[in-house]
Amino acid sequence: MSQLYEVSVVAQQNGKNGKPCWLIIKGNVYDVTKFLSEHPGGGEALLEYGGKDASKAFKQAGHSSDAEKELKNFKIGEINSAAPIQIQPTSLAATKPTENTITEDPEPAKKSSSGFCCC
Ligand code: HEM
Repeated sequence: MSQLYEVSVVAQQNGKNGKPCWLIIKGNVYDVTKFLSEHPGGGEALLEYGGKDASKAFKQAGHSSDAEKELKNFKIGEINSAAPIQIQPTSLAATKPTENTITEDPEPAKKSSSGFCCC
């Protein structure tokens, strides 16, 4: 099975500050760090999409089928597209406000009664 990566994890590998340069193309994750100096379209073109989804740019550059085949040499995994499971602490959500709950200031007008308005 392919290694799965979160988009947020890929985003950190943007090729900057000595970090690896990863790209997302059609849901797959590619490590193009070693390809930067060899890419016929230039390393800058790849760095521009470091850590991002380059699917559109890859298509728009009009890559040959050879370039498409070359993709697999750089594949390191896929994007984990499963939606994150959000566990709601239902017991807490249902709890009534406690004495710690901040309530409205009973006399809000008093603060500015001196004529000095801080806002
Ligand atoms: C792993 C990803 C990529 C691979 C393996 C790859 C590979 C290649 C290859 C083999 C070529 C030579 C022409 C061809 O065979 O089509 C090429 C050209 C080119 N690539 Fe990429 N490419 C990648 C990503 C990108 C991205 C993200 C861009 C973004 C703009 C890009 C822009 C270009 C451009 C503009 C050229 C044309 C250069 C020229 O003809 O002067 N490539 N690429």
